Amino acid sequence: LFTGQLDWTECVDGTFSIGVSKSGAYPLIVGRGELAKLPELLQQILESDSVFIVTDDCVSDFLLDITTRLLRNSSLRVQTVIIPAGEGSKSWATTEKVLSCLSSGGARRRTILLALGGGVVCDLVGFVASIFMRGIPYVCIPTSLIAQLDAAIGGKTGIDFNGSKNLVGTFHHPVAVLVDPDLLVTLPQREIRSGLAEAIKVGVLLDRELFARLELMNPLLTTDIASLAAIVEDAIVSKIQLLRDDPFERSLARLLNLGHTVGHAIEAATRFDKYRHGEAVAIGMGIATEISRGRNLCSLETRERILSCLENCGLDVALPLEYFGATFQEVDVIRRIRNGKLNEVLPIAIGECVIVDEVSIDEYEAAVHALIQRSAKYGS
Ligand SMILES: NC(=O)c1ccc[n+]([C@@H]2O[C@H](COP(=O)([O-])OP(=O)(O)OC[C@H]3O[C@@H](n4cnc5c(N)ncnc54)[C@H](O)[C@@H]3O)[C@@H](O)[C@H]2O)c1
Ligand SMILES: [Zn+2]
Repeated sequence: LFTGQLDWTECVDGTFSIGVSKSGAYPLIVGRGELAKLPELLQQILESDSVFIVTDDCVSDFLLDITTRLLRNSSLRVQTVIIPAGEGSKSWATTEKVLSCLSSGGARRRTILLALGGGVVCDLVGFVASIFMRGIPYVCIPTSLIAQLDAAIGGKTGIDFNGSKNLVGTFHHPVAVLVDPDLLVTLPQREIRSGLAEAIKVGVLLDRELFARLELMNPLLTTDIASLAAIVEDAIVSKIQLLRDDPFERSLARLLNLGHTVGHAIEAATRFDKYRHGEAVAIGMGIATEISRGRNLCSLETRERILSCLENCGLDVALPLEYFGATFQEVDVIRRIRNGKLNEVLPIAIGECVIVDEVSIDEYEAAVHALIQRSAKYGS
């Protein structure tokens, strides 16, 4: 678990400099059927006898019973908090609700929160865990594809605020992550497709083999847990590789943002209820690819491979024109939040991207039009 050190030195001008460091490690368990290891895992990391499972009212139907049953034979006091499913729960109101359940349920500094759910539950629980009593431990059991290959990895937590995606949040790593692809068996097809978008992102950024696997993916076979499990494992390894040099996102120019500035803007512009996160990111990646081609940074073949891979996984790349104005207003909001500067990540080859300084609204518009025409032509 995490430990820290605090040092001070006296500077030549008589002032002091305080040095703070934090380091630690935690288990990441990935594999089919690994949920059964939960009691053993908790045994290793637990410093208290109380656990709060936080889940949503959809995941609870499928996975709450089995999870509580696994913990029944332990001496743990298990309490449950159920929040409404969906992005709307990444809110201050739900944060407050969970905080108040913890407070009235007698949670203490060593109580463990167990996030059982998709990216929404993982982001929210991580956030709550980071602020309750100045930080308590939490364990992530991601149950959606996005959460398994992305949201549960990296320690980023947060909620949407004032209409802006992830505007409030923290870095707070879990004390353990348990990824069991068998839990995906009840995940609706649309959510699987949304998760595949994040896997394609990682493939385009640095993992040619993963990308090739996704190109061959039969969209009708997305319930094939064995191939999803392989995708989850590869994408996790690649994400960790991408986070290695900048785990706290000090740099605003980050490869992992591929498709995300526009993707987040689309989500906000459509009030978080028209597109799933991955669907919006897929459009963002399509636009980035088209812009890259427009600047002659990638070949026709690369563009075709990326767009076809997204489409093959059932993801639309065309942003309907009716959302264009609102989306690019949101892009301006994001630009302001980032001190007036906006980077864009553009693919130059499969497994290789570049970060560019600014993309003009004309380039965005041309890309959106080209993708609309393409989808009219190929009927995607
Ligand atoms: N922190 C990060 O690094 C990070 C990375 C990627 C995405 N995210 C965030 O994650 C969120 C998107 O995650 P998501 O797509 O998982 O959303 P989600 O949590 O809303 O889950 C999608 C839907 O699937 C249901 N579901 C989840 N697991 C299920 C299962 N096993 N069986 C049946 N239904 C199941 C949920 O109830 C929900 O209705 C976004 O808010 C995004 O910003 C965060
Ligand atoms: Zn994402």
